[in-house]
This record gives sequence, structure tokens and C-alpha cells, in this order.
Amino acid sequence: MPRSRAARPNLTPLFYLLGEKGRREIPRVAISRFKQAIDPRAARQGFAPGHKNEGYMANRVVIGSQWGDEGKAKVVDFLTLDADIIVRFQGGANAGHTVEVGDQKFVFHLIPSGIMHQDKICVIGNGVVLDPIQTLAEIADLHTKGINPEGRLFIANNAHVVLPYHSTLDKAKEKKAGKAAIGTTGRGIGPCYSDKVNRIGVRVGDLMDERELRPRVEAMAKVHNEEFTVMYDVPAIDPEVVIKDYLELGQKIKPFVTDVSEMLYKAVKAGKRLVFEGAQGTILDVDQGTYPFVTSSNTVAGYASCGAGVGPTALDEVWGVVKAYTTRVGNGPFPTELLDETGDTLRKIGNEYGATTGRNRRCGWFDAPVVRKAAVVNGLTHLAITKLDVLDTFDTVKICTHYECDGEKLDFIPNQLSKVGRCTPVYEEMPGWKCDTTKCRSYDELPENAKKYLQKMAELVDVKIGMISIGAKRDQSIVIDKGLAKGLGL
Ligand code: GDP
Ligand code: IMO
Ligand code: MG
Repeated sequence: MPRSRAARPNLTPLFYLLGEKGRREIPRVAISRFKQAIDPRAARQGFAPGHKNEGYMANRVVIGSQWGDEGKAKVVDFLTLDADIIVRFQGGANAGHTVEVGDQKFVFHLIPSGIMHQDKICVIGNGVVLDPIQTLAEIADLHTKGINPEGRLFIANNAHVVLPYHSTLDKAKEKKAGKAAIGTTGRGIGPCYSDKVNRIGVRVGDLMDERELRPRVEAMAKVHNEEFTVMYDVPAIDPEVVIKDYLELGQKIKPFVTDVSEMLYKAVKAGKRLVFEGAQGTILDVDQGTYPFVTSSNTVAGYASCGAGVGPTALDEVWGVVKAYTTRVGNGPFPTELLDETGDTLRKIGNEYGATTGRNRRCGWFDAPVVRKAAVVNGLTHLAITKLDVLDTFDTVKICTHYECDGEKLDFIPNQLSKVGRCTPVYEEMPGWKCDTTKCRSYDELPENAKKYLQKMAELVDVKIGMISIGAKRDQSIVIDKGLAKGLGL
């Protein structure tokens, strides 16, 4: 009687078919060919999985490992040099992603940061909540700077649309919450995701057809207008105006709209390489973050699959972007926050002012329990450490190795808000390097104390470093990962 598969979990299908005896008798080359035949990724790349390190070109997910603004856009723009398609998969115009290339500086809220590369395709996936007005403004801005996104920007027809009801509700709720406010960006993100899950949302495809749009907007207006007038003392929004405006906007974005999932499936099959661009950060994730002081989407790497409509087998590497210190915008706990002169210095040197709202970013030392959590919930394969140069002038730098809480040592930021509030960070102080790193272009050129600091970070979170950023410009990047170096021809 054949043994059940569950009893033999580590066997590949070939071994499973032939049994242990067969395994001993088959030459390795035959096993490799068989694997190649059955593994679609191996087939698409022309390499057997066992040969990944020698030439396999990976699809990379890039996510924020802290509370957002880690420099994801800078890293995505750089990794785009080794990719074909860049995909946003969650969040909305709450994101502010800054890319500096030459003399030009762009802040993207919805369009993927890879759009600066004129030969690359950019995709806004179904997991994003799309504000069409913002999207069109970004497209217009690109044109004024000589970049044409037509024919290479695609928007999922099943992404949800942020309507005026959402931003009005977002702001009204925050106002009413007073001191308990989340400190949202006011871009309607939470209400839009709520309507999506509540099954009363409007999707991009609906904007092309009044028969779809009208009943949905009318139903949504009923719910929210009552809320506005009864609970928030805010004027109702006329659904007729919304229907008219959004049908017009639908016509304007129509050339970009498609079935993104189908498109990406074909691209993966054709061996195209993808970069998935996360927004926000892991500790703002609606499940893994400091709830309720979080955003309303899943920001973790696993959501790249759901929010782009690609299977999880298409995700190969997960790059966690980590600022060399920590920042947070908005309210909520922040164990290593510096409410003193040092915090002000970090803000000033790091230019830590919100790219979307212009608010001061709260600043603090590097927090290993935060990034350790990110390493675990995202399955990080690489760290992309940014803004190391911001620490160049410090005499000493501190690193939080763990927390103490209720007499216990904690290696991970806890899930319960009150417990996070009781955590005391435990620091290790390290000597600074007191020299300019912005011109370094290889790991060897970095000062010894900076190397020690980087090594400490990697060791504490148990993830290897893939790249280091020492300035906002594209060339201010140090590549460590061999696969990336090979892809870039370095
Ligand atoms: P994102 O939301 O994660 O893409 O990050 P933001 O764009 O909101 O904030 C990061 C800021 O740091 C931007 O102004 C970037 O231009 C800048 N930046 C990125 N990497 C570096 C770096 O290595 N050093 C310095 N000094 N600035 C950087
Ligand atoms: P990027 O992609 C930093 C924060 C807000 C607020 C909370 C909820 O640029 O890293 P929301 O408007 O999402 O309902 O606000 O999340 N927040 C961000 N903080 N970077 C971001 O994006 C953020 N997007 C949202 O400040 O605390
Ligand atoms: Mg940002």
C-alpha cells in the first residue's frame, strides 16, 4: 500500500513517485532535469532551482520594516535597474515615496517609483485603494518633467476607488476622536478599505460604466450621508455630483486600466522580473502593527501576492528596508523615541518631515525588537539599510537590543498596546565614525565603526545585508548581495 504523502513531507514529487530505493538509484542529473520540467519558475528562467545562486533572476518584494518612510522608494528605484516591472500592491495616497535622480526630485503617492526608468512597466495592483484625481495629477506632473507613463502604466480594474465620502469621513472621524486620534493622513484610506470589506465599495472598472457605478454610489451615499449628518455634523455629499465627476475621471484613466493579474501571470511566464513596492511599514500593518495606531491595509510581504493577483510562488526574495535609526509619523507608541535635542538633530540632518503631510517625523534610535518582528512576519531574505549617512556626525550611536517589560526580556515588540507602553528599551552604545560616508561606493570604503554598526544591526535581526544607502541619489548605493551585483553587471 503506498504510504501517504503527509507521512513523508520532505520528499520532492520525484522521490515521492519512486520511493527511497529509487532515490538512491537515480543519477543526480536526472533528478535535476525532472525538477526543471516540473518547476515552472525553473523553466521560465532556464535554470533548475538548485542553480538559483548561479544565475536565477529573482522577483523581489520590497517592504518597510519600521513605521514607514524608511526610504523604500530610493531602494525600489535602485532595484528597478535589475527588473522589468514594478508593482504597488497595497495602501494608497497615504504613501509618500521620494525618488531623487540627478537634479529631479519626485514624490509619488500612487504611481510606482520605478516609473522614472523610461523603459520599465509600472503596475497599480488590486490591493491599492486608488484616488483617480491624485493619479491623474501624478501623471500630469510626470509629463511636465519629461517622463511619459502612457503605454507602460497599468491600473487594476478591480482596485477600489477612494471617493469624496472616504476622505470626508476620515477627517471627520479624526476630528471627533480628539486626543485619541490616530493621526491619519486624511486621504480616506481607512474608510475606503472599510467599504471594500463591507462590500459597498466602488472599483476602478465601475468608473467606465454608469450602470455599475450609479447603484453603488447611491448605496454608499445612503450609508455615509446619514453618518455625516447624524454623527459628525458634516454636510451630505450629493451622489449625482459624485457619479458625474467619477464617470469623467473614469474616461481619463481608462487607457491605463486592465486585468493586472492576467497581465502579471503572462509576464512571469515570459521570465520578466518583478519588483513589488510596499507602502507604509510593518509596524503600521493592520494585523502586525501597534493596533489601532496603524494603517488599514496589510503592509507585509505576503500581501504582495494578494494585492497584485499573483501566486505566492512568484515571490522569491523579500527585502526589508530599514532606516539606520527609527522614525514615526502620526500617533501611537514608539519605545525608542527621542524627545530631546538628539531627536531634533536626527530630524534636522535626516530631513524628517512627512512627504505626504509635511508633519514632523518623530525620531529615535534603531530599535531591534521592531525590525526583528519585521524579519519574522515578512520572512526577510535581505536588509536594505538606508540613511546611514545621517549618523555621520554623531560621537556615539545607540542601538536598542531588546526591551524590558514587567521583569521580562522581550526580543520582539509586543502586540498589545498597553504592553508596548510598559516596555523600556535597553541600549548598547557604540562609537560613531565621525566622517562623511556619502561618497563611499563599496563596503570596504566605509569607516570601520560604521561597518561595526551595520554588522550589529544585521546580527541582532539575523538577516543579511543586501544593500546600503548613503544618500538620496541613485548612485549613493552600496551593493552587497551577489545576485543583485550580478544582475547589475557589477
Ligand atoms: P519611503 O516612504 O519609504 O519611500 O520614504 P520617504 O520618501 O517618505 O522618506 C525617505 C527620505 O529619505 C526621502 O526624502 C529620500 O529622498 C531620503 N533618502 C532615502 N535614502 C536616503 C539615504 O540613504 N540618505 C539620505 N540622507 N536620505 C535618503
Ligand atoms: P510611506 O509609504 C509613514 C501613518 C499615518 C498614521 C497611520 C494611519 O510613505 O512609508 P492612514 O492615513 O494610513 O489611515 O494613517 O499610518 N502612515 C504613514 N506613516 N509613512 C507612510 O507611508 C504612511 N502611511 C500612513 O501617519 O499614523
Ligand atoms: Mg514616505
